[in-house]
Amino acid sequence: MNILVTGGAGYIGSHTLIELIDREFENLFSIDNYLNSEESNYDKIEKITGRKINYFNIDLKDKEAIKSFFNKNTIDSVIHFAALKSVPESIDIPIECYQNNVGGLLNLVEAMQESNVNQLIFSSSCSIYGNPEKLPVNENTPFGKAESPYARSKQMGENILEDFCKVNKNFKVISLRYFNPAGAHKSGFIGEGYTKRPNNLVPLIAQTAVGLRDKLTVFGTDYSTKDGSCVRDYIHVVDVAQAHVKALDYFNKMKPNYDVINLGTGNGTTVLEIIKSFEKASGQKLNYELGKRRAGDVETIYADNSKAKKELHWDAKLTIYDMVSTAWKWQQNMEA
Ligand code: NAD
Ligand code: WQD
Repeated sequence: MNILVTGGAGYIGSHTLIELIDREFENLFSIDNYLNSEESNYDKIEKITGRKINYFNIDLKDKEAIKSFFNKNTIDSVIHFAALKSVPESIDIPIECYQNNVGGLLNLVEAMQESNVNQLIFSSSCSIYGNPEKLPVNENTPFGKAESPYARSKQMGENILEDFCKVNKNFKVISLRYFNPAGAHKSGFIGEGYTKRPNNLVPLIAQTAVGLRDKLTVFGTDYSTKDGSCVRDYIHVVDVAQAHVKALDYFNKMKPNYDVINLGTGNGTTVLEIIKSFEKASGQKLNYELGKRRAGDVETIYADNSKAKKELHWDAKLTIYDMVSTAWKWQQNMEA
């Protein structure tokens, strides 16, 4: 089976390539424009697995370049990670967000259709649920109010793919809605935060601990949660990656040709609990302050992951401690 991973040099893409190699997928291709990653990540994947990836520097905004890729290479399935993932950046530069996340998707699907490539896994996000009324959220929970262009771009991506599947019955799409991926590969060679401007909690904690930032601010301690800080469903990136391998099997048995599946652990963890776990794993005190709420933050969200368990035969195996300890190992390696 020949698989194309878009955004394969990025955080989740690189971990997924490793899991695909572990499951002995032979012909793996990756395209990336290295906007938020480095080409040398493929060398790190080779260092971990002993296997080379066929990789190409292609921008998904360049329709002709993608078409040319599909004309020259035989691909069975595509796992589509390439996108801009920063929520604050999407508010500052919405057009770039839509060009990459929506325009890039349109170019990809058009090129796949022309080359008769009919299986696509799409990286969606729990942000499509907005601020949910009922918890945990399952796949029937309706889209909420998008809190950012980023969240809207993922809602649009899902809508486009669903519409496309309605009229192209031989085309199969699985939208995987990730909750809060965190952690790194146990080797410490790959992880999150190449850009040095991460926005997500765990890399910010690790950067603070290593001295790249003065302190971490906890955004809000007056929420109606057990310790007043927000609750999220943090999921280890390796568990997320493994779900993609399982999703490739699901193509063979899925009934509707468009389907959505939550990828979360089913458990909520507060910001302060993440900090405590990090302090335990790193053996050092984190410099943090209790601050005001961040605009647009949801108080609590976590997944009902029963569909992933039933349909993908997948479950999250790794813990919060695994997430923070591997993130810490990766951050220390980066600074070494
Ligand atoms: P990432 O930024 O580490 O990886 C994305 C990769 O895509 C990068 O290597 C980047 O260079 C590449 N890329 C971006 N635009 C491109 C373009 N136009 N052409 C070619 N390559 C391009 O992000 P990630 O954390 O690995 O996220 C992967 C996917 O999962 C994204 O679609 C993201 O929206 C989604 N997602 C991520 C999270 C998260 O918290 N990490 C949560 C939910 C969903
Ligand atoms: C987690 C918690 C913050 C930074 C975003 C996207 C979502 C998905 C995951 C892509 C929140 C708190 C954070 C800090 C803090 N990504 N925090 N101090 O906002 O849940 O979700 O990433 O699809 O779509 O919206 O993730 O990591 O930014 O925040 O207290 O310096 O950590 O308030 O409660 P979020 P996050």
